[in-house]
Amino acid sequence: MTLPRSRMRVMLMLVALAAATLVVIKLATTDDSAIAKRDPHADPHLPAAQEHRLLAATDAASTATSKAELVSKGRSLFNDSSLARRGEACGGCHTFGTTNANQGTIPHSDSSGKVLFGRDPPNLVGAAKTAPYGWTGNTATLKQMVVNTIVGHFKAGAANAKDHPDVVADQAAALLAYVSSIRPPTTSFDQGTMSPAAIRGEVLFQGKGACIGCHGGPQFTDNGMHNTFVPNRDGWDDPGATAPAHAFNTPTLRDVPKSAPYMHNGVFKDLREVVEFYNARSSISPLNLTPQEVDDLVAYMEAL
Ligand code: HEC
Ligand code: HEC
Repeated sequence: MTLPRSRMRVMLMLVALAAATLVVIKLATTDDSAIAKRDPHADPHLPAAQEHRLLAATDAASTATSKAELVSKGRSLFNDSSLARRGEACGGCHTFGTTNANQGTIPHSDSSGKVLFGRDPPNLVGAAKTAPYGWTGNTATLKQMVVNTIVGHFKAGAANAKDHPDVVADQAAALLAYVSSIRPPTTSFDQGTMSPAAIRGEVLFQGKGACIGCHGGPQFTDNGMHNTFVPNRDGWDDPGATAPAHAFNTPTLRDVPKSAPYMHNGVFKDLREVVEFYNARSSISPLNLTPQEVDDLVAYMEAL
């Protein structure tokens, strides 16, 4: 049996209309609600007494079990996507020994779900010694950072925080031990076998480039907050910290070749763009580095 042409056309149009409506509804619903939940480090706003109890319970759990056991349990939790809302394991965003460039930046939104800006997952190498935490340094200790993330990001986090604080404390003790155990890879910097270009770069890093003023010490950070004039991107306006205004947390530079893209918003795709920024339009510009000196600074950071 064949339908008359005109009826066929009307039916096809109706089908197309229904499909288009579905697409529109899907676009309108996925973004807001999903993006509002996307930020795994959104402050869970724990009442102070509850946070205090959880931190104390985490201390107790940290001493009740051997370090090796905690680290191994923490490693599994870190890579377990079944625990997290949206199925995103910590390790899916915080990668090691391999670039996390493909993760992009994580949207931060206001309570209505409107995206205000995006932030790049920081490098966790040496994290035990890089306090404060978060790009705006708003979390004083790694323990608080981990407890807050479990409460806000794990599916059962908020319920457990209220009814089973011991479960949160066990998870926090394990994640804390694991994250604290993340060391930089052994590189030519550690082995004293850097290339001549990297050695020239090290001299520039400590001298003409003035990098060491903020990226000093074994972790290559002063654990401080600075406004270095990093540009916004994608129409985002990230206010950064309030004191000093528009400041961001100085990141470690160990394993930095693997942590592209760079800066809080991932605005620079590689280390050359970073050095060119410092050379020409940052808070410490102009550095008057020659093209050779730019190459040498990049070679040094590639050895870290
Ligand atoms: C969806 C991606 C994503 C997931 C999943 C994620 N993080 Fe993060 N993490 C980030 C981003 C982005 C930041 C920076 C947050 C900011 O400053 O606003 C961050 C910051 C941190 C910091 C602070 C680092 C520093 O030096 O300031 C720690 C520690 C951390 N995350 C640990 C974890 C742990 C543990 C988990 C799992 C329980 C986890 N993260 C899950 C993206 C993620
Ligand atoms: C006044 C302090 C200060 C000085 C001087 C400084 N930095 Fe930074 N550096 C920072 C801060 C703060 C950030 C984070 C900025 C942001 O994300 O907005 C940063 C970020 C970086 C990053 C990005 C790391 C990542 O994982 O995203 C690199 C690479 C870097 N700096 C290299 C250098 C080099 C090379 C020099 C010298 C030419 C230098 N810095 C001088 C404070 C400083």
